[in-house]
Amino acid sequence: MKTLIITGGAGFIGSHVVRLFVNKYPDYQIINLDALTYAGNLANLSDIENCPNYRFIKADITNAEAINKIFSENTIDGVIHLAAESHVDRSITDPLSFINTNIIGTVNLLNAAKDAWKGCNFEGKRFYHISTDEVYGSLGDEGFFYETTPYDPKSPYSASKASSDHLVRAYLNTYGLPTIVSNCSNNYGPNQFPEKLIPLFINNIKTKKPLPVYGKGDNIRDWLFVVDHARAIDLIFHQGEIGETYNIGGDNEWTNLDLILKLCEIMDKKLNRASGESKNLITYVKDRAGHDKRYAIDFSKLNAALGWKPSLNFEEGLELTVDWYLNNVDWMENVISGEYEKYYTKQYVNR
Ligand code: NAD
Ligand code: DAU
Repeated sequence: MKTLIITGGAGFIGSHVVRLFVNKYPDYQIINLDALTYAGNLANLSDIENCPNYRFIKADITNAEAINKIFSENTIDGVIHLAAESHVDRSITDPLSFINTNIIGTVNLLNAAKDAWKGCNFEGKRFYHISTDEVYGSLGDEGFFYETTPYDPKSPYSASKASSDHLVRAYLNTYGLPTIVSNCSNNYGPNQFPEKLIPLFINNIKTKKPLPVYGKGDNIRDWLFVVDHARAIDLIFHQGEIGETYNIGGDNEWTNLDLILKLCEIMDKKLNRASGESKNLITYVKDRAGHDKRYAIDFSKLNAALGWKPSLNFEEGLELTVDWYLNNVDWMENVISGEYEKYYTKQYVNR
């Protein structure tokens, strides 16, 4: 029996990772460790919350004492660390929260794992840190991010993630903590908080609100369906080499404007609107400060080493995503109204 901590399991990507592990590994105990910030929503996991191999612990990774206590009260075999402040725009208005959670919080977890595991000389243990392609900076029209690309983060968010990546590698080099890092491109899919481009625009198209395109809409992102990211995390956690870094990407570059036009086209059809109606909602707004121009990931190392590649093409993935948001009106309404924050209280306090 293995006991794993997945941090940030109530968030967007974390909830898909928790679901995959709980369903695929009935012999593992999966502890979802999450502070339930505005981005954490236990309703994302309502389908697995009663599984015997699943447990939720509400804890803040910036609280070293609380994290150490969890490690001393449980025999933890592995950590998959996703908890983070994740939205670039919020990092521009409130950088300190990103420093606290993404850097200090990561160090607290590293310390807790190092101290708990040194007695067994780290035998059979694994600390897997989930990071982003944004640490590599911004690309021009050509080229890709490789695992060897020098770090050049340009927003408080990416600088805090770069810092945490460096610390994770420093703990391997200095203390021998068995760590792995992966850096992934933009994820999309069900359960993403509607501050991020795709769910925000799906909801705005549905409710006929303006679609705020930053700058000219010519920035480029490489999009990956979230379940494909979760599959990569499963593979890397189990079969990745300690000390290695793996890039994960979608091989799927889109300018923001082309993506938005595609989304409008799909939604016009699904909502039985006249073709071209939703694109009239597009509104060009002031650009994001320091807006990275282009991200593009080369994931050939992961493909060659572990055989991973994306399973869905973008049109299929977008349709599936649009269908999910249109069929889960309650999820979106609860998130927008703030009602979702009561889910924890309802599920865990009043029963
Ligand atoms: P998210 O914002 O949807 O979820 C973050 C989760 O972490 C939430 O459940 C939140 O409650 C929890 N959390 C935040 N601060 C915490 C704290 N101090 N203590 C404990 N829990 C805390 O994020 P996401 O988009 O799912 O991203 C997850 C991870 O993947 C992050 O590390 C992010 O940097 C990385 N990543 C995201 C993307 C993407 O496109 N979203 C791409 C590559 C990498
Ligand atoms: O590349 C991986 C990163 O992708 C992750 O590490 C981050 O956690 C995740 O938030 C995401 O960062 P982005 O900044 O690329 O994602 P976002 O959805 O915020 O924006 C995508 C693009 O759309 C970006 O170029 C900014 C633009 N945009 C975004 C919003 C919210 C708009 O034009 N208008 C908007 O309202």
